[in-house]
Amino acid sequence: MRDDGYFGQYGGSYIPEILFNSQQQLLKEYRSAMADSAFIEQVQQEMQEYSGRPTPLTHCARLSAQIGGAQIYLKREDLNHSGAHKMNNVIGQGLLAKRMGKTRIIAETGAGQHGVASALVAARLGLECTVYMGAHDIERQYPNVFWMKQLGATVIPVTTGAATLKDALDEAMRDWSASYDDTYYLIGTSCGCAPYPEMVSGFQSVIGHEVKTQALKQFGQLPDKIYACVGGGSNACGIFMPFLEDSTELVGVEAGGRGPQVGDHACRFNTPQARFGIAQGFSTRFLQDDQGQLLPTHSISAGLDYVGVSPILADLADRGEVRMISATDEEVMTAFSQLAKNEGIIPALESSHAVAGGLREAATLSPDQHIVINLSGRGDKDLFNIARALNDQPFNTFLRTYLDEEENR
Ligand SMILES: Cc1ncc(COP(=O)(O)O)c(C=O)c1O
Repeated sequence: MRDDGYFGQYGGSYIPEILFNSQQQLLKEYRSAMADSAFIEQVQQEMQEYSGRPTPLTHCARLSAQIGGAQIYLKREDLNHSGAHKMNNVIGQGLLAKRMGKTRIIAETGAGQHGVASALVAARLGLECTVYMGAHDIERQYPNVFWMKQLGATVIPVTTGAATLKDALDEAMRDWSASYDDTYYLIGTSCGCAPYPEMVSGFQSVIGHEVKTQALKQFGQLPDKIYACVGGGSNACGIFMPFLEDSTELVGVEAGGRGPQVGDHACRFNTPQARFGIAQGFSTRFLQDDQGQLLPTHSISAGLDYVGVSPILADLADRGEVRMISATDEEVMTAFSQLAKNEGIIPALESSHAVAGGLREAATLSPDQHIVINLSGRGDKDLFNIARALNDQPFNTFLRTYLDEEENR
């Protein structure tokens, strides 16, 4: 990264004038925190004592045998407190907000995992918390909204645009412009203006550092390939960054959705509408029409349908350091069932993209090769979407009965 927050041609800081001073203050405080061993120790301690790190690296013997190719290992970020990798970043940024003397945090969320993680850390650190969430995402991920409220956070539905993450992000920026004196904007992925992409990736890189040590101990070499799903890009950056100097191949898996038509997927790579642009405070690859308007996206998972992507991944892909592939909604559901039924692990739909990409390619490798799939989160939050995708009628009957009973109470 360059000092000005650029990664190759991507990144930078395109924010309203009013936010310039608070962005500069954040940059200064982040640099000073990262040079302070007491702060780093505090982050590490909280990751261990509160979130349960290190998360294990799990060998999937049955699944590997069934696929008939490489040995498949999962990095179990689903075992973090709150059930996803999002926790790593909110611990780091939450402690930074506290260090900066802020009393309130704001966050924006897609799948709701980052919203829950922010609400958890705010409760733990005694900070006020407001979460912006697209109204469409609220419908898809209501259980997470329920938990945010129980944790004392205020959830503000965003109804503009497609009512998803992109729109929630605009609203959070608006709030920050009016409240930066006492408020810290806690971004949930490695996007946004500098230093957020670098900072979020930095806090998430604990994932890759642990994989390195664990792989050497468990199978005596570094993995041949690592797979991670790519929404904004934080879990991918987190597992990839420590491997950039190594021979391990790094593979990002995007949401192929219903297919290649505009509006049916969220592939910011390898599609004609994915190109360089500037929006939402930074420059990266966005899905845009010929006039530069951001396009609608779709994914079965609420966490992978962001219209842009981390500038770090955009640059790494340009330089051939990361290879980008995609998995369709249908492939994702097959991968979900394969993992659940063969290994007793229920992955989040986002993570199931990485599983789908990993399983597809594992089949072409040999049994003495090793792949690691980053299991970014657990599937509990996706209960309703998974039941719908699997057309599980008994689940619908259960919900109807539950609602009838509620009405008659
Ligand atoms: C479990 C899980 N995995 C992955 C993602 C995608 O985010 P990122 O690409 O920043 O890791 C999300 C986003 O909400 C998520 O909840």
